[in-house]
Amino acid sequence: MTDQPRRRSGLHGVSLAVLGGAAFAAMTPAAFAVEAAGVPPDVAGAIHVCSSCHGPRGQSNSSTFPRLAGQQKDYTDTQLKAFRDHTRADPHAKTYMWGMAARLTDAQIAAIADYYAAQPPVPGERDASAQAAAGAQIFMQGIPAKDVLPCMSCHGEKAEGNGPIPRLAGQHPPYLARQLEAFASMARANEIMHQNSMNLTPDEIAAVTAYLGTQ
Ligand code: HEC
Ligand code: HEC
Repeated sequence: MTDQPRRRSGLHGVSLAVLGGAAFAAMTPAAFAVEAAGVPPDVAGAIHVCSSCHGPRGQSNSSTFPRLAGQQKDYTDTQLKAFRDHTRADPHAKTYMWGMAARLTDAQIAAIADYYAAQPPVPGERDASAQAAAGAQIFMQGIPAKDVLPCMSCHGEKAEGNGPIPRLAGQHPPYLARQLEAFASMARANEIMHQNSMNLTPDEIAAVTAYLGTQ
């Protein structure tokens, strides 16, 4: 039914000039038909465009492009609206996502968020380093002396997220570190995460994101 999606219909007119050649991984029509099975045709075309950066099923290989697979649907929905209305304004959000989200309707956003929530997240990788162990402690206990709350208290025991709180498990650690820096500097404005990131040192950010890479 969705073998012949109307390509890019949800993104009509959006410039793909931002697609640096290397980022654009062509997908065969057959692979795409499988990927988009069950998605309404107008949304399948949009998802095909998203895949060029975020990877088939949202399982990207490059840490420039966050993984969307298994992400909480409310969170994805909120972020796409924040790109569309420009309230998420960190540099990569502006460069890559403002244009992408500009013409998506609320209904398309909801369907895209459902699609990615249903994709299997990428499993974590083993890391027996002292750094990852230090990160586990921050994740589970916070840093009471610096008023850093346990990340787990909001993001969940397995970093699976909940509603508008994102899944962190299965995400690229360098992407997570960039977001923590953006919250700390308020380049990405979010009061809750500003409080939880502003007192973290670069070493602590490296540790907690290394731990998350194991999840
Ligand atoms: C040209 C590459 C590119 C394309 C195409 C693209 N994105 Fe993105 N997207 C990015 C980058 C880079 C980021 C990270 C932005 C940042 O660092 O703030 C991002 C971030 C996101 C996020 C936030 C993820 C998170 O964990 O907070 C969502 C959701 C998202 N994109 C959805 C989409 C959807 C849906 C499409 C297709 C309609 C799409 N993207 C197309 C590059 C792209
Ligand atoms: C009080 C609840 C709360 C606590 C505690 C918390 N977070 Fe968050 N976190 C959130 C919310 C809510 C968001 C979504 C913000 C938004 O919508 O922009 C978020 C977003 C994030 C993101 C962005 C993910 C993405 O895909 O872009 C990262 C990374 C993150 N948190 C890491 C952490 C870490 C690490 C800790 C512990 C040091 C932590 N958080 C503690 C609530 C919390």
